[in-house]
Amino acid sequence: MAGLTVYCCGPLPRLRRLLQGLPCAVRLADWRELLRDGPARRCLFALGTDELGPLPETLELLRRIRSAPDRFSGCVAGVAVDGAAELDTKALARQLIFHLSMAGCAFPERPLAEGTGSLHNWTVLQKRLGLPSREAAWAAALEALCLRVLDFSPQQYDKPRLLMLHASDHATSNTLALGERIAAQLGEDFSVRIMSLRNGAIEDCRGCSYRVCTHFASRGTCFYGGSIATEVFPAVQSSDVLLLLLPNYNDAVGANVMAFINRLSSLHVSGALSGKTLFAVVVSGYSGGDLVAEQAMGALCLNKSFLLPPRFCLLETANDPGEILRLPEIEARVRTFAAQIRLCAKNRCD
Ligand SMILES: Cc1cc2nc3c(=O)[nH]c(=O)nc-3n(C[C@H](O)[C@H](O)[C@H](O)COP(=O)(O)O)c2cc1C
Repeated sequence: MAGLTVYCCGPLPRLRRLLQGLPCAVRLADWRELLRDGPARRCLFALGTDELGPLPETLELLRRIRSAPDRFSGCVAGVAVDGAAELDTKALARQLIFHLSMAGCAFPERPLAEGTGSLHNWTVLQKRLGLPSREAAWAAALEALCLRVLDFSPQQYDKPRLLMLHASDHATSNTLALGERIAAQLGEDFSVRIMSLRNGAIEDCRGCSYRVCTHFASRGTCFYGGSIATEVFPAVQSSDVLLLLLPNYNDAVGANVMAFINRLSSLHVSGALSGKTLFAVVVSGYSGGDLVAEQAMGALCLNKSFLLPPRFCLLETANDPGEILRLPEIEARVRTFAAQIRLCAKNRCD
């Protein structure tokens, strides 16, 4: 099997050692190599922070990724972040993965292996695998991530089943109007189902123990049951692609959508989300769409197991009801986004 190129950026005292000790073939390179030679088609980004957070070099990497919108087309990547402190690792990874996706990069499920300063985040896995140290648990996760990147080969569908989920009002919502335009573009060769999360009261996740959660999950439900378990879970299970409609509410996804994502833990622990692909539409009245997109992507692809395709998100700004459909060039952007969904679900886009 061909090896993986690891693009290193920032201080990596522990991570470099762990990567060099992996049984699979990895080649460590300075991240600037990708500017000179173009990125490797299968790669890992290894980022380090110091006690004060990300270094200027990391900002330079993010800026370079954004400077060439197609640079990563055809690439598949994973991300590893080595933190000197307890903060920053997840925020940095989310930002990097968001911008890489928008520059054409695809990601396998759970594309992040981060180490906080204390490595406390590996305590559970260390216990579960009976490993001698947290560092050993991180090394095992790194190896598994490298293999997921190298082996990544998303399934293609003749007639992909797309589930469009929203919690908006038909009469006024810009986000829903945009979603319906996208669905109309997908046409006959997709099976599209549009479902509202507002039709039943949604209890948020109760935070059951892992044992209780897996108990209910094995029966395809969750502690609370309700419309999430009887209607939304089956719809998610029988879909290949999830298209989430996300109006920006206080720079975050709305409460109904967040409750849905939290309750999805039940399907996640039973493995029912594997192989499904996430797309999203974010509409903000003013600003902050990247925060909403990163929140949804972080929850569903980093914490749960959706695949993240290239250019997974359409981000727009519109506030007054109906304004979205009057934005300049909006139909062209709808067509481009629908074509991207088609490319990923029906053809290979990695
Ligand atoms: C409760 C609430 C909070 C909002 N917070 C923000 C915000 O933080 N930033 C912003 O740009 N727009 C914000 N908006 C405006 C919406 O993002 C805007 O109306 C947009 O068109 C998407 O909503 P819609 O699909 O319901 O039309 C907020 C709207 C509501 C109702």
